[in-house]
Amino acid sequence: GLPEFNPEEIKAFAGLEANTLDTVTVPEGYRHAVINRWGDKLHVSSPEFRGDASEDARAQLQQIGYNHDGLHFFPIDGKDSISGSSTEGLLVTNHEYITPHFFFPKGIVPGGEGWNADWVRKSQHAQGASVVHVRLNDQGLWEPVLDSKYNRSVNGNTLMELVGPAAGNASVRTNKDPEGRYVYGTFGNCGNGYTYWNTYLTCEENFTDYFGIGTKKSDEVDYKPYLTDKQIEAFKRYKGSSKTSSSSYRWDTHDERFDWTIEPNEVNRFGWVVEIDPFDPTSKPKKLTALGRFKHENAAITLAPDNRVVVYMGDDQRSEYIYKFVSSGKYQPNNDAANRSLLHEGTLYVAVFSDNEATDGSFMGSGKWVPLVLSTPTVDGGRLGDLFSDMGELLVHTRQAADAVGATPMDRPEWVAVHPHTKEVFVTLTNNSERGGGKERYPGGPKHPDAYGPNPRNKNAYGQIVRWREAGSDAAAETFEWDVFVLAGNPNVHDDIYAGTDNIDKRNTFNSPDGLAVDPRGLLWIQTDGSYSNSGAYEGQGNNSMLVADPESKVIRRFMVGPKGCEVTGITWTPDMKYIFINIQHPGEGQSVSEAQANPTAVSTWPEGPAAQRPRPATVVIWREDGGVVGTFPA
Ligand code: FEO
Ligand code: CA
Ligand code: CA
Ligand code: CA
Repeated sequence: GLPEFNPEEIKAFAGLEANTLDTVTVPEGYRHAVINRWGDKLHVSSPEFRGDASEDARAQLQQIGYNHDGLHFFPIDGKDSISGSSTEGLLVTNHEYITPHFFFPKGIVPGGEGWNADWVRKSQHAQGASVVHVRLNDQGLWEPVLDSKYNRSVNGNTLMELVGPAAGNASVRTNKDPEGRYVYGTFGNCGNGYTYWNTYLTCEENFTDYFGIGTKKSDEVDYKPYLTDKQIEAFKRYKGSSKTSSSSYRWDTHDERFDWTIEPNEVNRFGWVVEIDPFDPTSKPKKLTALGRFKHENAAITLAPDNRVVVYMGDDQRSEYIYKFVSSGKYQPNNDAANRSLLHEGTLYVAVFSDNEATDGSFMGSGKWVPLVLSTPTVDGGRLGDLFSDMGELLVHTRQAADAVGATPMDRPEWVAVHPHTKEVFVTLTNNSERGGGKERYPGGPKHPDAYGPNPRNKNAYGQIVRWREAGSDAAAETFEWDVFVLAGNPNVHDDIYAGTDNIDKRNTFNSPDGLAVDPRGLLWIQTDGSYSNSGAYEGQGNNSMLVADPESKVIRRFMVGPKGCEVTGITWTPDMKYIFINIQHPGEGQSVSEAQANPTAVSTWPEGPAAQRPRPATVVIWREDGGVVGTFPA
């Protein structure tokens, strides 16, 4: 078994200072190594990474994808994450998006000179998720098993199946798929989840960025006659703008399903959680429509006392909502064939938070989960069934259903994590520059609200972590109590509420919590994706980093610091907790396209160092030199 967590240890651990170095920094006594860089070989026969990004689509298909995000280690023996192998497994990693000026060779810009269908395919092949068989070698280093049958690219062009209430719905039918059953691809794959039956959940986030108007000029294109009024409303609600211009990735210029003037329903086939079986390389991934369609961050799974499966999820856009799914069926420990359809049918709820208006300055209150079903009353006196003809249509328009029942707008809900012992749930609310600012949330919509309850600051640059306890510690309960675990802030520049709660000081100060997990010993790991300017409001916060916290005492310590221009995201571990795996996304971010084209390594050369031709997103393994458990801090 794992050594029990000792709260004194984390108090005694000083934590790292912030820094702005172009490297990964870990505590004394810890080591790290880089694996699975963008462009590394996925198979024995894959081409070597060239360094100048001149690979074509075919080559990228056989190499590791770009901008790593959520990830999970599946022990190779198929056992669970407590009892399975700690020396060999399948590491599944999301690849969220591409950074065009590093991803394409010099001179190639999406939509510019030389832009063609093969660059579009290359971009599609680098997003989605990779399955990589990994093994601990004799030197104590993790390496890919390149001849493994499990290694696989699940990408923007992989055939997958829609399952659940929206499968076959009129709103997901297209010219190419008149039955509305099969979709090519997944992209915008942000956070992740994993199930008790050894499948991986990859979550589609910023999917609207991929759709545009092809080669038409934006001033020539009106929504009509291409879209119905309903489609226009949904388009504005999900995109957050009424702009008809082409997408930043320019897939729409060479792949007409991304041109909404030709395939207006294609966009409805994205924005889902996708289930992948990493142990069956020929399996079709499934888009789980019962879990709702929005800009998904991650999918945190737990069990209710009666063994129904509960999945918590955030919708990461300013002033969006928190959701949970409760399965109709029950998890059966020895019947994975049956478990595999548990996420196809159930009830989706959205969270409504109330403020208890505590006079002592503490932030806490209660809340309820409102079911998004046709019979649910809406705030204007009707019911959801007046707005949607069936559950499929409702789920495709999850955000609009949640609006209608009065869900609470939050400060960009990112990762959710469930404490394995207490069942308390934590969520990162990363920041919200628009809260209280008076702007519309989307064209024709309400304004971004003022500070309220678990979102207590206007113009929230720093973010917070909120925690809730379900009634009776039952994950399927319909009411809960919440409090604020931490308001991130900066005591270097503020002495008011923007300095953060008492557990923030000048050493651990950070902004924009994003990745989040509670490990089996009960430590809370917090990863940041915010400003790395280290100046102004962010003075003294350095590069994005990973912190570790005691959920009970609320003590927070900085554990690692990422290289320049990156975010730190995704966390998983071997069952023995001797190795943790995290991802470094978009190292070197922060240059304009023209600057980066001229000199891709001006900001970062990570991880290759001075010889690098461009920075590369990658996975980092962290372990203790003495072979101890990661997250222990001996004096
Ligand atoms: Fe892909 Fe919300 O981060
Ligand atoms: Ca994120
Ligand atoms: Ca983020
Ligand atoms: Ca990101």
